[in-house]
Amino acid sequence: MRQSIFITLALGLSGALALPQPEPGNGGGSGKPGSGKFPPSGGYGKGGSSQQRAQAVIDAFRFAWSGYSTFCFGHDELHPVSNTCGDSRNGWGASAVDALSTAVVMRQADIVKNITGFIPTVDFTKSSIPITVSLFETTIRYIGGMLAGHDLLTGPVSDLGISKSNIDALISQAVSLADSLKFAFNTPTGIPINDLWINNQSFEAGEVTNGLATIGTLVLEWQHLSDLTGNPEYGQLTQKAESFLLNPKPASSVPFPGLTGTNVDVRTGLFQDALGSWNGGDDSAYEYYLKFFVYDSDADNYRNRWTTAADSTIKHLASHPSSRPDLTFLASFNGTDLIFESQHLTCFDGGNFILGGNVLGRQDYIDFGLMLVDGCHDTYESDVTGIGPEAFSWNTTTLPANQTAFYERSGFWIQDGLYDLRPEVIESYYYAYRITRDSKYQDWAWEAFQAINATTRTNSGFSDVSNVNTPGGGQKGDLQESFLFAEVMKYSYLIFAEDAEYQVDFHGENQFVFNTEAHPLKVHGKPI
Ligand SMILES: *[C@@H]1O[C@H](CO)[C@@H](O)[C@H](O)[C@H]1NC(C)=O
Ligand SMILES: *[C@@H]1O[C@H](CO)[C@@H](O)[C@H](O)[C@H]1NC(C)=O
Ligand SMILES: *[C@@H]1O[C@H](CO)[C@@H](O)[C@H](O)[C@H]1NC(C)=O
Ligand SMILES: *[C@@H]1O[C@H](CO)[C@@H](O)[C@H](O)[C@H]1NC(C)=O
Ligand SMILES: *[C@@H]1O[C@H](CO)[C@@H](O)[C@H](O)[C@H]1NC(C)=O
Ligand SMILES: *[C@@H]1O[C@H](CO)[C@@H](O)[C@H](O)[C@H]1NC(C)=O
Repeated sequence: MRQSIFITLALGLSGALALPQPEPGNGGGSGKPGSGKFPPSGGYGKGGSSQQRAQAVIDAFRFAWSGYSTFCFGHDELHPVSNTCGDSRNGWGASAVDALSTAVVMRQADIVKNITGFIPTVDFTKSSIPITVSLFETTIRYIGGMLAGHDLLTGPVSDLGISKSNIDALISQAVSLADSLKFAFNTPTGIPINDLWINNQSFEAGEVTNGLATIGTLVLEWQHLSDLTGNPEYGQLTQKAESFLLNPKPASSVPFPGLTGTNVDVRTGLFQDALGSWNGGDDSAYEYYLKFFVYDSDADNYRNRWTTAADSTIKHLASHPSSRPDLTFLASFNGTDLIFESQHLTCFDGGNFILGGNVLGRQDYIDFGLMLVDGCHDTYESDVTGIGPEAFSWNTTTLPANQTAFYERSGFWIQDGLYDLRPEVIESYYYAYRITRDSKYQDWAWEAFQAINATTRTNSGFSDVSNVNTPGGGQKGDLQESFLFAEVMKYSYLIFAEDAEYQVDFHGENQFVFNTEAHPLKVHGKPI
């Protein structure tokens, strides 16, 4: 998943948390720092077959599912160190709903039966947890998860023995949830408010702006709900909101063609700033300009919106660190001033450019995407755990003295060493592999997956860790986000799995498109 602006703001305060990098030991074959420092823990090794690797990912998924089911079934997430439960997503069983489409593509029929039996029992019209509902998070995790489960179980994976009534309930429950949320769009412009009190159908007090990502990451799920139900309302609501992103105003908030600021006033539809990026808070709006076109290949306005942004990104944001000019990262911007900072979240960018090149027949976009994938790979292989950090910089003005040697080797320095089970680097390896079929990307995914397994595993699941550049990853934070099930497990599995209709670039076209939470949705238009 891509994240909301609140994460971005929090990151701004995070400062330099990284510990100094211990000197690399026997760095494996490549001689590059960090490589070879995470020996295979499962005995599969680098030479394991794709089938063995896919099975090892299924084993890890079942292990995590078992921990969640044993201690926290029906809650949003397991706290995998203390074995207590969290309800950060309104207590509707986020981990179960997020795990569904992964369990389906892995063909774990017992788990699929369990989840599809559970979903009809959830009351999506009320939040029993006294927190606001995030329109964005709820859309990408719950609505996306249920619709993908439906599309797979009525399509390419219809042979798991799931009852028709439980499959139908995936749609009726998505409708129930969307109906509980749709008052969000009841603003002067139709741009929704993100943070909602659904029990009394009111907005979070004082909230009058919404962010680029939280506005622009609804249209795929809500349009698909309309296309599945025949009720045009859901699609219309989100298309209206999206129209303010497709034609952004004022011009001062669009410093480069197609690249905008972040905050939009829902009363006027005007952007409030020119501070933007492909980082958290903005990220998945760019992702969805392309993916809505993949969903509906007649949507020329989305295609043009994405190519305008993509061309400006290549021209203006591609940035090469002074110590490693061979690497490419995407800079952020404030007006036309660049800011040399990026995030783990941003690493979906390689996959997005590769998908764009694939569907548009543009090798230049694929080549650029592969360069971004190389940069994100560097953020993994440079650290002692073999996992990349939450936030990093290549601004030499602010480079901390105790990271100078690290920066010289790696081309970035660590602003926040957290890893909270995010998927974006493996996600981009997945697109790189599917579209080039170069097994190097499978090897990179396998190294990353083994590193995550070795560093974040607990007795009952997987935890966030505080510092990817210290042996063992530093402190375990006791949180297993639901996207571990939806995304890390899915992309790690699918990169080794057999060809299938829901895979990217299946026989040269895309019959499904993955939402930002890695839930595969059946495309509506002619597959491209
Ligand atoms: C590196 O320097 C930063 C900033 O002074 C500090 O917060 C951090 O703890 C240092 N790391 C170590 C392990 O000394
Ligand atoms: C994950 O770790 C467990 C426990 O050490 C091990 O049994 C398993 O083989 C590992 N899996 C992978 C893919 O590294
Ligand atoms: C799913 O599994 C959980 C945990 O074992 C159990 O409590 C629940 O009743 C099961 N639900 C269904 C519908 O099978
Ligand atoms: C709606 O409920 C929330 C949470 O109880 C409360 O803070 C808010 O003031 C209520 N809003 C209205 C308009 O009643
Ligand atoms: C961005 O630029 C604006 C206007 O010049 C300024 O007020 C703001 O502080 C800047 N923000 C950042 C994060 O640099
Ligand atoms: C580097 O950091 C300095 C100090 O915060 C800031 O003024 C400058 O704009 C930054 N430059 C880039 C390219 O990020």
